[in-house]
Amino acid sequence: MTTVSSGRDASTTTSSVAFVDLGAQHAEISAQVAEGMAQVMHDSSYINGAEVQRFERAWAEYCGLARAVGVASGTDALELALRAVGVGAGDDVIVPTNSFIATAGALARLGAVPRFVDCDPTHLLMDPAQIGSAVTSRTRAVVPVHLYGQLAPMDEICDAARAADLVVVEDAAQAHGARRGGRRAGSWGAAAAYSFYPGKNLGAYGDGGAVGTSSVEVARSVEELRNHGSRARYDHPVLGFNSRLDTLQAVVLNAKLAQLDRWNAARRVAAGRYDEMLRGVPGVVRPSTSESNEHVWHLYVVRVPERDRVLQALHHAGIPAAIHYPTPIHLTGAFSHLGQGTGDFPVAEKAADEILSLPMHPHLSEAQQQQVVEALARALS
Ligand SMILES: Cc1ncc(COP(=O)(O)O)c(C=O)c1O
Repeated sequence: MTTVSSGRDASTTTSSVAFVDLGAQHAEISAQVAEGMAQVMHDSSYINGAEVQRFERAWAEYCGLARAVGVASGTDALELALRAVGVGAGDDVIVPTNSFIATAGALARLGAVPRFVDCDPTHLLMDPAQIGSAVTSRTRAVVPVHLYGQLAPMDEICDAARAADLVVVEDAAQAHGARRGGRRAGSWGAAAAYSFYPGKNLGAYGDGGAVGTSSVEVARSVEELRNHGSRARYDHPVLGFNSRLDTLQAVVLNAKLAQLDRWNAARRVAAGRYDEMLRGVPGVVRPSTSESNEHVWHLYVVRVPERDRVLQALHHAGIPAAIHYPTPIHLTGAFSHLGQGTGDFPVAEKAADEILSLPMHPHLSEAQQQQVVEALARALS
C-alpha cells in the first residue's frame, strides 16, 4: 500500500484501509509510465517536452476549454491565472474562508488582499449571497472553490460577479472532471486553476498544476509568466517565474487522464456505499450533493459531534480519517493581520469543528468501507 507523504492526506501504513491508495493507481498504469519516462530520458526532453504539450491539449479538451497551460503546482496556477486576468497588488479578491489555505495564499503572494465570505451550511461551498456585501471599490475578482469534488453554485456566483464587474477565477484543485448542469469545473470563469498534487483525483508523482482558459490572451500570458516572462528565448517583456510542468509529470498525467472518468465513477460508487452504510449510524450528517452537480468525490466529508474525540478513536482503530480543514482561513496565523476573528464566519467555523473526511479513493472496497463505518459507529456510541 502506498501513502502520500503529506499530513494533508493523512495516509497511514498501519491500517489495511488507506486514505488515498496511490499504489493501486500506479499498478494500473505502471507499464505506460515506465515506457513514457524511459522515452523522456532517452530524448532528454525534461523541460517542455512533447508529453507536456500532449497533456495540455488533452486536458483542455477534457475540460471543455480552448487552452490549458501546465505549471508547477495548483498554487502557482492560481497565482498565474490571477495575474493573467489582471489582478495585481492592492486589489481585493473575494474567496471562501472554507478552503485550503493556498486559495488565499496564492493571491496574497501577488500583493492582493483576500476578502473572505462564508459557506452555505448544507454543501459547505461559497455562499453567493455574501458576494455583494463583500465588494469594495478595490475588488477585482472572485475565486469560487469547487470544494471536496463538487462545483460551487456557479450560476449565482457568475451573476453576482457580473453585477459587480468582477473577474471569476475558479479554484478547481479538487474537482477534476466534476460537472454542474453538464459543464465541467474550470469552464465557467475567465480562468481556472487545477492542482495535480499526488492525492488529487488526477495526481502527478510530485507537484504539478495547470491553468485552464478559453482566452488566447490569458493562455499566452500564463505561458510567459511560467517561463521567466519570456516570449522568445532571452526576450523578457515582463517579469515572470520558473513554474513549468515537468515532462516526467506530464507522462504520468497522460497515463492517468485516460483512467480519470473510470476512477471518478468508482469514487461515486464508493460514496453511494458510504451513504447507504451510514444511513443507520446516529449522529452522522452525510455529505449533500447540490442538485445539478455531478460530484467526483475528491473527499467524502461527514459531520459528527465531538469530532476530535471521534477522530482520535478512529486513529486508534487504525482508520486514517482526516480533517479538511481544521481552521477556516480567516482564523489562520497567516491572515491574522486582516483582523478577523472568531464569529466573523460562523457557518465555516462551526463546520470546522464537526467535519471529518473518511478514506476515499477509486480502489476502496466494500469491506474496507464496512470497517470504516463500524469504527465510526463504535466511536459515536
Ligand atoms: C482547494 C485547493 N486550492 C489550491 C490547492 C493548491 O494546490 P497545490 O498543492 O498543487 O499547490 C489545493 C491543493 O492542495 C487545494 O486543495
